[in-house]
Amino acid sequence: MPFDVQTPHAFAHIRTRPIAGAVGAEIEGVDLAGDLGDDAIREIRQALVNHGVIFFRNQSLSPETLIAAGRRFGPLNVHPIYKPLPGHPEILPVVKEAGDAMNIGNSWHSDVSFLEKPSMGSLLYAVEVPPYGGDTIFACQRLAYLGLSPEMQRMLGGMRAVHSDRILSSAASKKKRNAGRSTILDERETPEVQTIHPVVRTHPESGAKHLYVNEAFTIAFEGMSEAESKPLLDYLYLHARTPEYTCRFRWEQGSVAFWDNRAVQHYALNDYQGFRREMWRVTVEGERPI
Ligand code: SIN
Repeated sequence: MPFDVQTPHAFAHIRTRPIAGAVGAEIEGVDLAGDLGDDAIREIRQALVNHGVIFFRNQSLSPETLIAAGRRFGPLNVHPIYKPLPGHPEILPVVKEAGDAMNIGNSWHSDVSFLEKPSMGSLLYAVEVPPYGGDTIFACQRLAYLGLSPEMQRMLGGMRAVHSDRILSSAASKKKRNAGRSTILDERETPEVQTIHPVVRTHPESGAKHLYVNEAFTIAFEGMSEAESKPLLDYLYLHARTPEYTCRFRWEQGSVAFWDNRAVQHYALNDYQGFRREMWRVTVEGERPI
């Protein structure tokens, strides 16, 4: 059932505080490194479905406790392209060194949407943050769907789109992303992975319809050329990040964001040149979109 973020949910173990009208809530009363009971986990999961992305402040996590927290929500995915944290294949380090020009996640995307079963959600833990900048923006794809005209909704509802990992798997892109560092597993070109998903997906827990194309990984509509698809895809990408559909999260060391990749897209700002930012991400496996 579609939700309304302004309607408070009666939770027994957590408190939620929306940070924007569209999407996103801070969760209070939770120590993710602690021994969380099944009821608390159920409430956190419900809060995630209600708000699309939830945030926890002042957490103190080791690689082991982050992995354990992520596993409470499902099996964890090992990223096919990026190097893991040494000794912890489930953790993707999202690091920008002070001298780096590029960061990870600086285009609107839903994590690993090029996989047959893309991620259900991702937990990102802030290990080191810059003094300013480095925020992450999230956009609600339920509102993006609802903001389309009934005729556009009807048309898109019957369409599917091709998602590709080419911006990560091509040798040129890997070289550029590595830029003298070693964040990529293997700099050689790897075969492109392509998968077809519905353009409008139904959230398996809320039953709400969401727009499901993103500019990082979606390359065409099924049965159309990339050139034919581009005008409408470009329109949808712009529409999907309408400011009123978004929230913006200001990180502090110890913050955790847990976003629902079935419901939101996100974008990591690259506006902190000269400063280091280190985050650890675990990615919870999901289901095939329908
Ligand atoms: C990501 O896209 O997973 C990274 C987000 C961020 O670093 O804020």
